[in-house]
Amino acid sequence: MQRVRKAVFPVGGLGTRFLPATKAMPKEMLPVVDRPLIQYAVDEAREAGIEQMIFVTGRGKSAIEDHFDIAYELQATMLSRGKSIEILEPTLLKPGAFAYVRQQEPMGLGHAVWCARDIVGDEPFAVLLADDLMVGQPGCLKQMIEAYEQVGGNVICAQEVPEEQAHQYGIITPGTRDGKLTEVKGLVEKPKPGTAPSNLSVIGRYILQPEVMRVLEKQEKGAGGEIQLTDAMATMIGSQPFHGLTFDGRRFDCGDKAGYIQANMALALERPDIAPAVKAFGDKLFCQS
Ligand code: G1P
Repeated sequence: MQRVRKAVFPVGGLGTRFLPATKAMPKEMLPVVDRPLIQYAVDEAREAGIEQMIFVTGRGKSAIEDHFDIAYELQATMLSRGKSIEILEPTLLKPGAFAYVRQQEPMGLGHAVWCARDIVGDEPFAVLLADDLMVGQPGCLKQMIEAYEQVGGNVICAQEVPEEQAHQYGIITPGTRDGKLTEVKGLVEKPKPGTAPSNLSVIGRYILQPEVMRVLEKQEKGAGGEIQLTDAMATMIGSQPFHGLTFDGRRFDCGDKAGYIQANMALALERPDIAPAVKAFGDKLFCQS
C-alpha cells in the first residue's frame, strides 16, 4: 500500500458568506483565536505525516503564500527587540515542501482538486477543506490515515447531520458498519430536501486514490452547476475499497458565520491565557440574555 505523502488544500473559493470581511482577504486567513483557518488544516496534515502541501489558490489569495513564507523584516524586528519568534514556527514549511497552483475559475471542488493533478502524480493523496475545522486528538487526518492503513482505497470523513441539513452536504449511502468505519455504497452531492439516502454526511477530509483525477478529467457539472468531487468519487465505488470514518472529535463549520463564532468561543475557552477573561465575560453576557 502506498503511503499518503501529499495533501491538497483547495483555497480558491470566494468566501462570499463572509463579505465584506473577505473582500480583500482570503476566507482561509480568518483567525480562530490567533491562528488562521488554513494554519489549523496545515498543522493537522503535518501531524498526519504529510510531506508536501499543495495549495489550489486563485486571485486575491496571495496572503496565504505570504503566511507560509519567511517574514524577514518581522523576524529581524522581533529578534532585535529580544522577542521570541517561536510563535511563527508553524508558519514555516520545509523548503520545497509546498506548491501552489491556480484555479483560474471557480468551477467547483472537483475542478479545484483536478487542478493539482500534475503535482499529485500517481499516488494516493489527502484533501483538506479549511472551512471544516476539526479538533481531536489525534487530529482527524491522522485518524483517517490509521484507518486507511487497515482498509486501503478511499477513506472520507463521515459525520451524522440533522436530516434537515442533509441538502447542504455530500451524503453517503451506508453499507456495513464496523466500529468507526462504514462502507460507502453510494454518494450524492447536496440531495434535494427529503431525498437524502441517509443523514451520514461527507466532511471536508478525504484520502483518495489517484484514479479520481482521471474521472475528474471527464466529470460533467453537477449540483450548483459545479464540477463536484462527490460525483467523481461516486464513480469509483465498487472498483476500489471505499469507507467513511466517523471521526473521534469535534467539527466546527467555519464556512458558516455561526459555526465560525462557535469555534472561536470553544477554542478560546481552551486557552489558559485568555479562558478566565472570556469565561467571565460569557457568564455575564449569557446571564443577561
Ligand atoms: C463541500 C463538499 C460536500 C461536503 C462539504 C463538507 O461542500 O462538496 O460534499 O459535504 O464540503 O463541508 P461545500 O461546503 O463546499 O458546499
